[in-house]
Amino acid sequence: MPRPLIAGNWKLNMLRSGATELATALRKGLEGESKADVVVCPPFIAIPAVVEALRGSAIGVGGQDLYWQDSGAFTGEVSAPMLADAGCRWVIVGHSERRQYFGETDETVAKKLRAAQKAGLTPIVCVGERLEEREKGVTKDVVGRQVDGALGGLSKDELKKLAVAYEPVWAIGTGKVATPEQAQEVHAFIRWRLAGLSDEATAREVRLLYGGSVTPENVRGLMEKPDVNGALVGGASLKAESFLKIVRG
Ligand code: 13P
Repeated sequence: MPRPLIAGNWKLNMLRSGATELATALRKGLEGESKADVVVCPPFIAIPAVVEALRGSAIGVGGQDLYWQDSGAFTGEVSAPMLADAGCRWVIVGHSERRQYFGETDETVAKKLRAAQKAGLTPIVCVGERLEEREKGVTKDVVGRQVDGALGGLSKDELKKLAVAYEPVWAIGTGKVATPEQAQEVHAFIRWRLAGLSDEATAREVRLLYGGSVTPENVRGLMEKPDVNGALVGGASLKAESFLKIVRG
C-alpha cells in the first residue's frame, strides 16, 4: 500500500495574508509524525509566502497548473522550472475546471505532466466524468480515455512518480460526494488501466486520490477502500480545522 497523500487545492482563493495564516496553522497542527504526505496548492502568486511559512516542515507545496514550455513568449503562463525554483515539489495537472473553462485537453495534460516531471515536480493528474456521462453509463470510457491520453507512453519509472486524482465533476463543489463504493469501483478500474500501461507491480505503487466534496465526515469511509490512497480536497482545505481533521482521518 502506498503511503496516503492528502492534497489541498486552494483554487482561486486566499490573498497572501490568508495564505500565510492558513499555512502557519497547518504547520502547527501537523507537527510531529503524520500518517499521510500532505501537500497544499495555493494560487501561483501566494506560493512564495506559503513556501516561506512551511519552510522546514514536512508539508509540500504545489502549483495548480503549469505551462509545458520552460520559457519564451507565452504571456501569462508559469512553467515547471519556475514552480520548482519557487519551492514547489508538486503540481496539479488537468483539473476538470481547467478542462471545462480553459480548454485543457488530454493532449495538453500529457505535455504538462511530462514538463512537470522533467523539472522534478510530482504531477497530480486529474481525471473524472461529468454527470451526463455517468448517467449515460460511459464513466469508464471517459476515465479510461483520460488515463490513456495523459499517461500512455510513460515508462514504469515515470508512472511511479505521479499521482492520479479521480474527481467526478458532479461531486466537485456540490456537496454530493461519491460513495466509497463508487470511488472504489473507478479507482480499481484506473489501477487496472495503469497495469495495462505498465504492469501490476507498478500500478500498485501509484497513488490514486479521490476528490469531490471530501469533508472530515466522509474521508474515513473513502480512505478505507483498498484503491483509495488519498484525497484531493477543495473547499474543506481552506480552513485549517477541517483540513487537519481530514489529514488525521
Ligand atoms: P471540493 O472539495 O470543493 O468539492 O473540490 C474538489 C476539487 O476540485 C479538488 O481539486
